[in-house]
Amino acid sequence: MAAAKTDRGIPLSTLSIQHLHTNSTRHTGPFSAIAELIDNAYDPDVNAKQIWIDKTQINNKGKDIECLTFRDDGNGLSRDLMYQMLSFGISKKKAVNGKLPIGMYGNGFKSGSMRLGKDAIVLSKSKNDLCVGMLSQSYLEEIEAKQIAVPIISFYKKEAANVKGVSSVQGAENIGYICQA
Ligand SMILES: Nc1ncnc2c1ncn2[C@@H]1O[C@H](COP(=O)(O)OP(=O)(O)OP(=O)(O)O)[C@@H](O)[C@H]1O
Ligand SMILES: [Mg+2]
Repeated sequence: MAAAKTDRGIPLSTLSIQHLHTNSTRHTGPFSAIAELIDNAYDPDVNAKQIWIDKTQINNKGKDIECLTFRDDGNGLSRDLMYQMLSFGISKKKAVNGKLPIGMYGNGFKSGSMRLGKDAIVLSKSKNDLCVGMLSQSYLEEIEAKQIAVPIISFYKKEAANVKGVSSVQGAENIGYICQA
């Protein structure tokens, strides 16, 4: 695999898709993984008042699979924040009105979600955006990916400009990428 390089020709480090599993093994049991997702909802940037955790079944190619859902009533994400959430080691959390954040490493969502399942889909509604992002080991294995690709599709809400509906879509090309699998 040819390495991506800086403009001075220095190889950039990369993350193989195995890292998603390796990183999840820091959770010896499922409860610390669940705690990562609860902490994220509680942190001051999201500031959720409630979180709902449920188990449901989804049908994939005729097979029922168990699916855990985590839903909160916090601030949601913009497209940039969704990219940050699906990336590694980026955390810009700070205290808000004296409430200190728990998160600091930019890793909890990745390690926690990948400990609980092989695939995570994040759906978000924030003030201006609707956003869908995917971190999926099954998908990356299926397309024999060498690096961790994170498809993201986002819609800018027209309501933000006082018109009902969706005005612009970002990342439409990501839909084709997902459909390859
Ligand atoms: N429920 C959520 N609602 C909105 N944004 C979220 C939610 N969960 C995570 N995020 C965003 O995703 C980012 C990454 O979360 P992640 O848990 O990986 O890192 P962190 O919380 O910053 O640090 P740590 O690794 O210490 O938990 C967060 O910084 C936050 O911006
Ligand atoms: Mg966290």
